[in-house]
Amino acid sequence: MVEFRKKSVQDIDVSGKTVLIRVDYNVPMKDGAIQEDMRISSSLSTIRYVLDQGARKVILISHMGRPEGTFVPELSLAPCAQKLAELLPDKVVRFSDMIYGPDAKAAVDALPDGGVLLLENLRFVPDEEKNSVDFAKAIIAATGAEIFVQDGFAVIHRAHASTDAIARLLPAVAGFLVEQEVANLEAAMSNPQRPLLIIVGGAKVDDKQPLIDKFLTIADKIAVGGKIAADGYVNASPNVYVAEDFVRDGNGNRLDIGPVSTQKIVQMINESKTIIWNGTLGMVEDERYSHASLAVARAMGESHDMTIVGGGDTTSFVEKVLKTNGELTFNLISTGGGACLELLSGKKLPGLEVLQDK
Ligand code: 3PG
Repeated sequence: MVEFRKKSVQDIDVSGKTVLIRVDYNVPMKDGAIQEDMRISSSLSTIRYVLDQGARKVILISHMGRPEGTFVPELSLAPCAQKLAELLPDKVVRFSDMIYGPDAKAAVDALPDGGVLLLENLRFVPDEEKNSVDFAKAIIAATGAEIFVQDGFAVIHRAHASTDAIARLLPAVAGFLVEQEVANLEAAMSNPQRPLLIIVGGAKVDDKQPLIDKFLTIADKIAVGGKIAADGYVNASPNVYVAEDFVRDGNGNRLDIGPVSTQKIVQMINESKTIIWNGTLGMVEDERYSHASLAVARAMGESHDMTIVGGGDTTSFVEKVLKTNGELTFNLISTGGGACLELLSGKKLPGLEVLQDK
C-alpha cells in the first residue's frame, strides 16, 4: 500500500469549529433530476465524521458543469442539497443560493449547530476558475470557516479558488474520499501488471489529448474512442489505436464507435492485465449509441485482472450496467475523470499538493 502523504481530517481537531468541505457534486442531470448520485454518496463519510467529532457547522462548496461565470439555472446545486438531505435524514441540511456576502452569511448564521449548508455553484462566479484570492477570502468571511477539507477528488487537478486559493488561507487537509482515491489509484499504478491498456473516450477533447501523450511511455496500448476519435484525432504512435469505424445518426454525426473498432478494443482488453477506462466511447445517454461502451464494460467486468474505471459519465454508465449485470466486477471505480487520469499519468494535482503534509 502506498502511504498517503497529506494530513487528513483525522489529523486535525475539528471540535467546535466551522468546517468548509470542498466536494464535487458535478453529477449528471436530466430535466432537473440527478441521474446518478455516486459523487454525493461518496462525500457522506467525511461529512458524518466531521460532525461526529463535534464540528459546529459544515459548509459544503462545489461546482457543477461549466457555466463559465454566469448563472445557468439548470446547473444550480439546489437538487444536490435535496438529495443530500435524503441521504442524511438525521441532520439539518440546507441550501444557500448565495456563495458570499451578507445573504450567505445570514444563511450560515441561521444554520443550527450540527447542520450542513451547501452553497450555490461556485462556477456561477468567474473568480472561481481564476483562482481569485479575494473570492476565497469572501467565502471564508461569509461562512466563518476555520478549517478547510478537500474531499472533491474529481476536481483536484484544477487550480481554482476552491481547490487552491482557499487552501492557502486556512489549515487545509484531505477528506476520506480524496485519501482513499489517491491511495488506491497510486497503489494500482505502483507496479502494474502488464500489458497495461488505457481506453480513452468521453467528450472533453481538449483535456484528454495531452493526457494521451503523457501515457505514451506508461501504457503498452492506448485505445481512443468517444468524441476525440469522432472528431478525427490522429496519433501515429505504434501503441495508439484510434477507432476506425463509427455509428452515425440521420445527419451523419458520429455518435458511437462501430463494430470493427469495438471488436478490436475488446480483443485488446482480453490480452491485457491492467485496464484503465476513462470516457464513454459513444453518446451512451441514448441506448442506440451505447453498444461499444456496453461491450467494453462487459469485457472489463468479466476479466479478473486489474480494472479501473474513471470519469463522471463512465462511472455512471458502469453503475447502470452493474444494476442489470451483477456478475461483472471492477477493481476500482473512481469518482474522478480528469483527476483520475492525471494522477495515473504521474502529474502533480494542485488541489492535493496544496494540502498540509503529514
Ligand atoms: C469532472 O467531472 O471531471 C470534475 O467535476 C471536473 O470538472 P471540469 O472538467 O469541468 O473541471
